[in-house]
Amino acid sequence: MDKVQYIGAVLHWSKQGNTLSFLTGSGAVQMTALAPDLIRVRFLRPGQREADWELINLDWPEISIQVQETGEEVTVFTGELTVRVGLSPLRLSFYDEQNRLIGRDHPQGGIFWRGSRVGCWKEMPGDEHYYGLGEKTGFLDRRGRRWVMWNTDNLPHLPTTDPLYQSIPFLLALRQGRAYGIFFHNTWRSYFDLGKDASDRYGFYADGGELDYFFIYGPDPKKVLFRYGQLTGRAPLPPRWALGYQQSRYSYYPATRVLEVARRFRERDIPADVIYLDIHYMNQFRVFTWDPQGFPAPKRLLNELAEMGFKVVTIVDPGVKKDEGYWVYAEGISGDYFCRYPNGEPYVGEVWPGPALFPDFSQARVRRWWGELHRELLEAGVAGIWNDMNEPSVFNVAGKTMDLTVIHGEEGRERTHAEVHNLYGFLMTRATYEGLLRLRPGERPFVLTRSGFAGIQRYAAVWTGDNSSWWEHLAMAMPMLLNLGLSGVPLVGSDIGGFMEDGHGELFARWIQLGAFCPFMRTHSAIDTVAQEPWSFGPEVEEIARRYIKLRYRFLPYWYSLFWEAYRAGLPPMRPLLWEYPADPVTWGLDDEFLVGKDLLVAPVYRPAIDQRQVYLPAGTWINYWTEERYAGGRYYSVAAPLDVLPLFVRAGAILPLGAGSSPMTAGSNSSGNGHQGLILHFYPDPEVKESTFLLYEDDGHSLSYQEGHFLETRLRLSWAEDGIRISLEKAGNYNPGRTFWQLEVHGLDREPAAVLVGPGRGDGEKEATVEWPVASAEISSAPGQRAAGHRPCRRSPVPLDGEDDAGWFYDRKLARLFLRVPDQDRAQEIWLQLTAE
Ligand code: GLC
Repeated sequence: MDKVQYIGAVLHWSKQGNTLSFLTGSGAVQMTALAPDLIRVRFLRPGQREADWELINLDWPEISIQVQETGEEVTVFTGELTVRVGLSPLRLSFYDEQNRLIGRDHPQGGIFWRGSRVGCWKEMPGDEHYYGLGEKTGFLDRRGRRWVMWNTDNLPHLPTTDPLYQSIPFLLALRQGRAYGIFFHNTWRSYFDLGKDASDRYGFYADGGELDYFFIYGPDPKKVLFRYGQLTGRAPLPPRWALGYQQSRYSYYPATRVLEVARRFRERDIPADVIYLDIHYMNQFRVFTWDPQGFPAPKRLLNELAEMGFKVVTIVDPGVKKDEGYWVYAEGISGDYFCRYPNGEPYVGEVWPGPALFPDFSQARVRRWWGELHRELLEAGVAGIWNDMNEPSVFNVAGKTMDLTVIHGEEGRERTHAEVHNLYGFLMTRATYEGLLRLRPGERPFVLTRSGFAGIQRYAAVWTGDNSSWWEHLAMAMPMLLNLGLSGVPLVGSDIGGFMEDGHGELFARWIQLGAFCPFMRTHSAIDTVAQEPWSFGPEVEEIARRYIKLRYRFLPYWYSLFWEAYRAGLPPMRPLLWEYPADPVTWGLDDEFLVGKDLLVAPVYRPAIDQRQVYLPAGTWINYWTEERYAGGRYYSVAAPLDVLPLFVRAGAILPLGAGSSPMTAGSNSSGNGHQGLILHFYPDPEVKESTFLLYEDDGHSLSYQEGHFLETRLRLSWAEDGIRISLEKAGNYNPGRTFWQLEVHGLDREPAAVLVGPGRGDGEKEATVEWPVASAEISSAPGQRAAGHRPCRRSPVPLDGEDDAGWFYDRKLARLFLRVPDQDRAQEIWLQLTAE
């Protein structure tokens, strides 16, 4: 057995541009400042090959750095960071602008290797907390365990089960409210030891490949994720329908059953956008075929579903049935597209279709072929593709996956499965995504995946695989999804109701409440388990499901804007409280409640027989969404939560763009469900919150033209000033949602305004069209308290406004709410609610 070796002293060092190279007896350490808050560290050993998987963006404008040598140390100043490099032995320490230590190599560790294993030990302060790492069981804080990065179809998801389907070697560390990140750029089986080996150090290491990591400085966690997104890529906008409610089952079979389920949704007034076809739609699990008995006329079926407003997503697994008479198999053999052993024999593994061969997605030509195979599915009308079993999962073998000696890659660039394994699912979704893009140019592809790696957000939404219908899994879905978000993946969800085992009404009701506020909202359940449609558990649960699915649709304009933020700034829409309140110690481990955006706090019930729960409200004032009661934050409250109530709180000062929303329309269609015509802007002014903003984002919902600038951003502002409440709407961009009126509701007004004045705003929105980090604290330009010229009084209506083109306002004393309709005309508009007579 090889001995652990630690990096020794630096023999020589040099600087080239923003890279410093340190030569030691065992190899060279290269340190590059890619940005003032982003440092890449590589340990290059003789004979090692570089990983070139196109996982990371290396296109960084060169920054200037200052370097000083002082005796035993080389010090690098980037403007934001000071990196001190101890020379004997080589040790890195990172300091912030105020010269406070952020993190450093462990004095007895630092860079090490043993045989082909390489890694790095860092000091682990007792009060540092860790997040991220992709899809893991357990709680939010990852500290105290060793976690493995090795994509595995592991069942069931017990507290000790690790690894699972997704490996994302990105760690977000938080200490005393200040954050930094470590991205370990290595695809081999790797480990993050966060306190198993020793209590004062954490380490990351891999069984092969290079030690290559990125240190990302915050101190705001948003900034760390912003950079991580620049490094590994951001999620493109999903088609709008992918944010709607989705129904799945292993499997709806035959076609008549699919239609029956779809019809039930419409008959029962339960909105839904997508229905899934699991493996039985195929002819004996042969990918890219249809079962001739159960699905004799796919085009007709999909047409009928489309007429009802349903999109269809079909499952596509990687294993291609070994069958001489099957065209995909034959093409794969003749094109030499499948993975092989070093001796040239194709690798055969057992999956749903029996013995199967696996495409080598690491080759561009194979990805192209695979992408093209989707043509007929799309021609039949399929809207999106669900990639499953892509760890790859293989039945009846130790390790549950492909033989590690199998070879991937073009001739001359071969790599073993040990190196490619963690990328297999990622590369498959890349093939699918790029294929859909070529087949339907200009349209946003929708791909759902089980397996993935860092950067998976570029190609796919992620669901958390085969959970069970257990309360424990409802609870675990929260930390799991939150950490996926903190690993850079915004569009995530768990199987609502639980996949394995029999679900039941109470659990389903609670899970649909959680699911309504998860980015990806899909119910799915396994073969031979009880039915799990919204109506499967009797009228009470059906009513709850209807109510929360409709609520989901109401929140779509808010969600959609958050996905824009995810695309532009890498910020997850579903986020732990520590994301917005990193200095509040209560938030560091809090994972049974979460935020959607910055303005909505969701506290699901995740235990049986509960009609109250404890909810922590962070600093500020919070408003119960249902009752409009106000709470002072910074403490726990016991909140009523009977079966039909999901505790929901709105931050005081919030602006929520919501759909008018009672109609069961689909997210994709151009109806009130999509929030254009039916949009209502809800304002929650508060004297303590002087100013707040929200960036409302709108576009056509399905094409890629947003990438060429076809969208509309409306910056909504709310300010509380001496003379009243000011609201401004500033539009920028060239998409026209066809709106003639804005509808507004101002909450929590205990008195009727003396007057409401409407006029043109200052309108510097044009300049602000580009969102860059930090989105949340965007500059606010309109000075409160000054009356803009040209403001006209708006008509007060003594009765509720209901005329379609009626401008005016109505105050409802009982609700303490003001309803307002103003014509949409100018680039910038301002509304002034004068609270006291002048
Ligand atoms: C896997 C998937 C599950 C799917 C089943 C059959 O278990 O995780 O979602 O229903 O395979 O395709």
